[in-house]
Amino acid sequence: MEKIKDYIKQNQDRFLKELFEFIRIPSISAMEEHNGDMLKTAEFIKGSLLQAGADKVEIMKTKGHPVVYGEKLIDASLPTVLVYGHYDVQPVEPLDLWTSPPFEPEVRDGKIYARGADDDKGQLFMHVKAFEFMNETNSLPCNVKFMIEGEEEVGSPSLKEFCKENKDLLKADVILISDTTMISLDIPSITTGLRGLSYLEVEVTGPNRDLHSGLYGGAVANPINVLSEMISSLTDENNRITIPGFYDDVIEVSKEERAEMAKAPFNLEEYQTAIDIKSVAGEAGYSTSERTGIRPCLDVCGIWGGYTGEGAKTVLPSRAYAKISMRLVPNQESPKVDELFENYFKSLAPEGVKVKVTSLHGGQGYVSPIDTVAYQAASKAVEETLGKKPVPFRSGGSIPIVSDFEEVLGIKSILLGFGLESDAIHSPNENYPLDNFYKGIETIPYFYKYFVELK
Ligand code: BES
Ligand code: MN
Ligand code: MN
Repeated sequence: MEKIKDYIKQNQDRFLKELFEFIRIPSISAMEEHNGDMLKTAEFIKGSLLQAGADKVEIMKTKGHPVVYGEKLIDASLPTVLVYGHYDVQPVEPLDLWTSPPFEPEVRDGKIYARGADDDKGQLFMHVKAFEFMNETNSLPCNVKFMIEGEEEVGSPSLKEFCKENKDLLKADVILISDTTMISLDIPSITTGLRGLSYLEVEVTGPNRDLHSGLYGGAVANPINVLSEMISSLTDENNRITIPGFYDDVIEVSKEERAEMAKAPFNLEEYQTAIDIKSVAGEAGYSTSERTGIRPCLDVCGIWGGYTGEGAKTVLPSRAYAKISMRLVPNQESPKVDELFENYFKSLAPEGVKVKVTSLHGGQGYVSPIDTVAYQAASKAVEETLGKKPVPFRSGGSIPIVSDFEEVLGIKSILLGFGLESDAIHSPNENYPLDNFYKGIETIPYFYKYFVELK
């Protein structure tokens, strides 16, 4: 296994070249015009897995973008690791804020800059290359399956069904995922929690057409003014969500566990400086790590309506819209939260407007226990390559399909992410440090080794 370091050294340029080829295909799942690129990307992964030593790879149709399934089964009596990742990426707008074009990957200051550099092409590709190493050196210690989807960034609308239809094919002992962050390579950590999500769009309609804001202003409810007020009523002065019943299913984390979690290093000063803010904000009574790790929240992700073009147009708009996300904690159910939201939101509207609420996507949170063979194997693997025992920590992000994996397939997931918060995923100038990419490749074979040994 010591060979992995040399293998990476000898092949690092080729790995990067191949990753760049993967990144160059603009696989934006949210945009229909990229449907052809989704197929091309699936083909690319198929080729990479075959080249890396998979015995069988199939591009499997779904109602949406295809799933790439690959496997190498060496011995039915050995454990099976199922690797999950996603080949789709987020849209790239606003384009003018990118220093280099999003689909022309470039290395600057030791980091790969491109859409998907981290989320999730860079992280997923680490698994392909670790798999290649184990095959090339005859050190693959167990069976491996790959399930790579193309719809994670749009809420995985087809994957639950896919899992139901392919339970046997997907049989495994653990699901291994690199699609989360680490505190840093110096303070290695393993993600043990993901938040759930309820994401909705709201529409407030006032008059049947845009009105002259002088002729009608002051006499007719303005949908944008109304929407703003409704939104500000959703949270109180302590930044608690005011929707009745919202907190009913929230599991309060015990004092002891909070004390344990507080041991994960966190530097508020650096956190603020990195995103150029003078002060943080959130639910009263909780630290920043707790606000993202163990508490739900409500945020407006977008808001529009009226005139937003150049110069002035004195108009009282007919409609106003917003996209609102609620990050949930594990025991909260997204359909129930959607309903609570809709009832309360409608109750906030004055008579002069109509309100429409549409659920866009949702999903459950996830807590991954640390007393499992998979966690112990991940911990030992990280300690082996980064020199320190990783700390468990709960992330604020969501991968809703992870709880479906447990429900449908009965398999727990291990979140062995190598991203950093500073990687700017979903933002302009997304990046992924080369060190993280190569350390990830180095760590993964150790996970396999320890998982099989401890099992
Ligand atoms: N990889 C992220 C999720 C993530 C990132 C979790 C960092 C923890 C740490 C994933 O691709 C993502 O963006 N998920 C979406 C889910 C949504 C589109 C259903 C999210 O969290 O907004
Ligand atoms: Mn991701
Ligand atoms: Mn993402």
